[in-house]
Amino acid sequence: MSQPLLLAESVSRNFGGLKALDQVSLHVSAGEILGLIGPNGAGKSTLFNCLAGSLPSSGGRIQFNGHEITRLGASRRARLGIARTFQLGKVFSTMTVKENVLAGLGIGAYGSFLRSVTGRVKGESELAQAREILDLFQLHDEAETLVATLPIGVQRRVESARAVATNPRLLLLDEPAAGLTHGEAESFAEIVRRVRARGITVVVIEHNMRFAMDLTDRLYVLVQGRIIAEGPPATVREDPDVVRAYLG
Ligand SMILES: Nc1ncnc2c1ncn2[C@@H]1O[C@H](COP(=O)(O)OP(=O)(O)OP(=O)(O)O)[C@@H](O)[C@H]1O
Ligand SMILES: [Mg+2]
Repeated sequence: MSQPLLLAESVSRNFGGLKALDQVSLHVSAGEILGLIGPNGAGKSTLFNCLAGSLPSSGGRIQFNGHEITRLGASRRARLGIARTFQLGKVFSTMTVKENVLAGLGIGAYGSFLRSVTGRVKGESELAQAREILDLFQLHDEAETLVATLPIGVQRRVESARAVATNPRLLLLDEPAAGLTHGEAESFAEIVRRVRARGITVVVIEHNMRFAMDLTDRLYVLVQGRIIAEGPPATVREDPDVVRAYLG
């Protein structure tokens, strides 16, 4: 196997006496859409926090793209190319959809670069990139709309669009399809495939089994802080331990 894009070795995280993550090891290969499933409280979001650097792990090692990142904070990891979304959603709700995407592109509030002469040239190319990302996420018609006024499902798409605008190598999506209708979830899955086609590797936490089965190349199943199964969705679905602990 070639060097994985992300490698976690025996990552643990305790909250007081609770072992939220208990020696979790996993790898993510470049170009994969990897799924992470498991019951409520299994530690899925905690794992994302430890991978993205918003929580330090209590033990273990994490490597990204050949770099040891175990002790790096979230912003350093973001600069190395790890982007993520949050289970409860984090958008700049008082900004427009386009401004959110521009913020992801790293240029902050829309007005500041248009005012600067040198920024103007850069601004044009960044506006073109923003348009492309808005199209990818089917947000073109909402570009000038304040995010706070949009339905939650659309806000979630805005959050993912902003994450993709940071041009990451790895995108971590925490339950992006939660609360979406079946049709919306299918169209979001298609967007994720197009994100992968841009060369972005994706890890997605998902409760909706149909969505996870349909979208992912490979799954890890986390139960009570431990990985209990790994493999292609069709295999994992039949695994007796998985059926007992989660699907059953
Ligand atoms: N900051 C924290 N402080 C204390 N305990 C926490 C903290 N974050 C998570 N936990 C606990 O760690 C365990 C794992 O939580 P986590 O949110 O990672 O689970 P999850 O798999 O994402 O669940 P869900 O499917 O409900 O989102 C839970 O028992 C939770 O209560
Ligand atoms: Mg969670």
